[in-house]
Amino acid sequence: MSQNDNGHKSVVLTDSAAGRSVELPVVQGTLGAPTLNIGKLYKETGYFTFDPGFTATASCQSAVTYIDGDEGVLLYRGYPIEQLAKQSSFLEVAYLLLNGELPNAKQFQAFDHEVTHHTMMHEAFKSFLHGFRHDAHPMAMLCGMIGSLAAFYHDDLDLDDPEQRRMAAIRLIAKVPTIAAACYRHSIGWPVRYPRNNLDYCTRFLHLMFEVPSEPLELNPVAAKALDLLFILHADHEQNASTSTVRLVGSTGANPYACVAAGIAALWGPAHGGANEAVLKMLEEIGDASRVQTAVDRAKDKNDDYRLMGFGHRVYKNFDPRATIIREMTHEVLRELGVNDPLLEVAMKLEEAALKDDYFVERKLYPNVDFYSGIIYKALNIPTEMFTVMFAIARTAGWVAHWLEQQNDPAGRIGRPRQVYTGAASRDYVPMAKR
Ligand code: ACO
Repeated sequence: MSQNDNGHKSVVLTDSAAGRSVELPVVQGTLGAPTLNIGKLYKETGYFTFDPGFTATASCQSAVTYIDGDEGVLLYRGYPIEQLAKQSSFLEVAYLLLNGELPNAKQFQAFDHEVTHHTMMHEAFKSFLHGFRHDAHPMAMLCGMIGSLAAFYHDDLDLDDPEQRRMAAIRLIAKVPTIAAACYRHSIGWPVRYPRNNLDYCTRFLHLMFEVPSEPLELNPVAAKALDLLFILHADHEQNASTSTVRLVGSTGANPYACVAAGIAALWGPAHGGANEAVLKMLEEIGDASRVQTAVDRAKDKNDDYRLMGFGHRVYKNFDPRATIIREMTHEVLRELGVNDPLLEVAMKLEEAALKDDYFVERKLYPNVDFYSGIIYKALNIPTEMFTVMFAIARTAGWVAHWLEQQNDPAGRIGRPRQVYTGAASRDYVPMAKR
């Protein structure tokens, strides 16, 4: 690496066979590894770069969230996740992600008011919802319903208007819980509830989910508090697969509802947000602490594609700070709700067995955020098929924060990766009769 008179750093790459060099500028963020800007590499050398899975490639500049995977650090707009988990609320975190700063009391009140007063769904949504089979997966319904919001707000989709962009972000954060709960109620044949705007974000969601018209709902306040904490932990995680999907779709100028629907589709995969549902299924399948070692052995067997769900992370190679917080809260929440779930013991034994096993130690595989979250959701009576939907509700705050940031980025261009082509070289068409 060298540094010129203006203090700009660069790295010179040399192609000795071709006898030429290219000087690539180093981009340095506030925190994190120095990054080579390879924008001119192809033009000057004829080479592309190859990085399947983006293991070493930054796709954008972002000021929203920072992760240090080696140190187990997660910061939202600079604030450590541990401090936010202890002192903040999900809605305050959503404001922070969107606006870059913590709100003062007046700003928070205004934000809360706006979110609260955009929670209703258009009545026509009900007919749309009833078009789904009763056994449709709620993620499939959520994806379709969120994408269809564009059809309800097509007069407010001028992406050049910052106020319309902001309103779309508010609408998404406000409506996603209403729509998510409606998907659940459709699947069990309950009538859709209207949001109760005298309640806070998480209590309102629990009412939307569980209140029946025939009797009042008794809620333990611990439930809403636990949900709020889970939502804070899931709110953002920089350029993960679903957020990168939102940004890629956003780079085409597509509307924000389409972008977030694409993010929901990406989140659904078991390697990403679908893991929380998969973890609970895995723990139920293991069933008893005595069968934990068999599961660990299967996960290590290269001839078996079985993996310990909720273990491992592309970025965290130490521990996932969210998992540490969730692990502690799981015990507390279960105790306060008076729930005795034998799956907690299975989870703890599984974690213990994996953490002292060479296979997991060598590969730096630690429990991730989803390892314990399912047990808490289960204790809150959230059905397993809804776990990834819960993740989507929280992550909507992050998705819209990234979408807004991208819309304001003057350097923004359509995302268009290159490829290493491995198909047939050019050849002539053979008429069918001659094949
Ligand atoms: N169980 C067993 N082995 C594992 C696991 C696991 N959960 N995760 C990774 N490994 C092994 C791989 O087989 C590989 O071994 P090898 O080097 O001998 O080939 C090595 O660890 C590295 O794994 P990769 O798959 O290359 O790591 P990658 O960064 O691509 O994947 C991922 C990360 C997808 C999270 C992976 O660890 C996984 O599948 N975990 C289980 C699913 C999960 O919990 N997903 C949630 C992620 S967090 C989130 O999205 C909220």
